[in-house]
Amino acid sequence: MTSSRQDAPVPPPRDPESAFGTKQPAVHMPLPITPDLDPPGADRLGLTPEEQAQFREQGYVIKRGLIPKETFQPFHDLWWQQPPARAAKLDPDDPKSWVAPGRHWPEENRWSLPDNWMGKGAWPSPEEERLGANTGERVGRLPHKLTRDVGNYVWRWHGIGHDPAFVRATSAHPNVLYMVEALLGGPIKLPRRNRGIYSVFPRAPDDPETKLGPHMDQSMTEMQAVTYIDDVEPRSGGFTIFPTSPQTLYRTSQQAYNWVATDASQAAMDHIKANVRPIEFCGKAGDVIFCHGWVVHSAGIHEGDRIRKAVIQDFNRVRERSHMRWTAAGKNGGERINCRMDGVFAITDDDGDDPADGVREVTNQWIMDSNEFVLSRREVFADMFEEWNLGQRPVEGNVVAEPPWWEKYGLPLLPSGSVPRGGGGMPAVPLSSVASYEGDGIWRVKSRANNWMH
Ligand SMILES: [Fe+2]
Repeated sequence: MTSSRQDAPVPPPRDPESAFGTKQPAVHMPLPITPDLDPPGADRLGLTPEEQAQFREQGYVIKRGLIPKETFQPFHDLWWQQPPARAAKLDPDDPKSWVAPGRHWPEENRWSLPDNWMGKGAWPSPEEERLGANTGERVGRLPHKLTRDVGNYVWRWHGIGHDPAFVRATSAHPNVLYMVEALLGGPIKLPRRNRGIYSVFPRAPDDPETKLGPHMDQSMTEMQAVTYIDDVEPRSGGFTIFPTSPQTLYRTSQQAYNWVATDASQAAMDHIKANVRPIEFCGKAGDVIFCHGWVVHSAGIHEGDRIRKAVIQDFNRVRERSHMRWTAAGKNGGERINCRMDGVFAITDDDGDDPADGVREVTNQWIMDSNEFVLSRREVFADMFEEWNLGQRPVEGNVVAEPPWWEKYGLPLLPSGSVPRGGGGMPAVPLSSVASYEGDGIWRVKSRANNWMH
């Protein structure tokens, strides 16, 4: 058996936008983690023995004041200028204006998008007939994803996540990269984007109370981090995680690098929600929590009167990867088809759909920094931290400026034309531009993942 096991069974394809969760609700209320509960070392770079042990056993560590809060001022200024803030007439000096602002957002918003759907034209509305998709098919992420969660309105500003200055101020900040190398170990892939700023607004008094929605993201992320750009008090939307959940879930995955859930994973998830008391990350602007990438997490309970503003981030080591995690829109009444881990879209003609039709919208989860499967399909390690650093080796700045996926594949993502800063996002491209047809419904996508290494 080879160590990479590329002959391992191909798991069923999954929608890249789907999270892993089960129906059972969380039983326990979160414990707010304030600085008095941190192990020694939270205010310094590096990892103390107590912090190493906490990461190994619980799957997280919090660093206080890792980024000076002045660093975020330009992005606060930009935040108030963005279309959702303007539409809702949010006023930095009037906290009443921050309550449940989504009442003022248009139901279908397509703010800050370039005119480049399938290479030309506007991003389609839900009613519009499309050449490459069933009417009403989802279009993928938008630069401003605006939703109403149980009680709170949430604005996921993904468009700022590919702003180079924002990435330098957050995910690629030298102190953050230092901690990523201290934990994950090099070579670290230089972050080129993050998921952006997620803002959770105070709820209106007659809206339902916030509830936890525990899940894990089943992406290729090896380490997840959340940075506050504004202070977050207890019960004010603090990012909430289930300590020990990565340890419990890890051993149930079929693979070490690509999360592949099994029946045991479902049982493990139920066990976590029934038995683990979650923690709620509380802190000041510039505080950062680092977690194992397979941590079970949730938006926090928000009963406060401030806007919770956090940057959601993903970190990875440099690895050999395979193709992008694509999904193809359903067409001619057919179902959505997701690309398999071996790079194949298998399209049937069950619904009268023509499998040879390559004029079909494909998209990826463009909010992610790592969008390609890891090439190796090896099984999990006996020690899940086998390859991690966890403070064992000194940090030497082993960060590699791997090109971002949108450059490797020549895909549009960044704001262009008249799109203002904070906008942009990847539209659909035709299946035939990313894959070749081999007959019998088999489309094989091209990988350019590792060309830059050779
Ligand atoms: Fe998530």
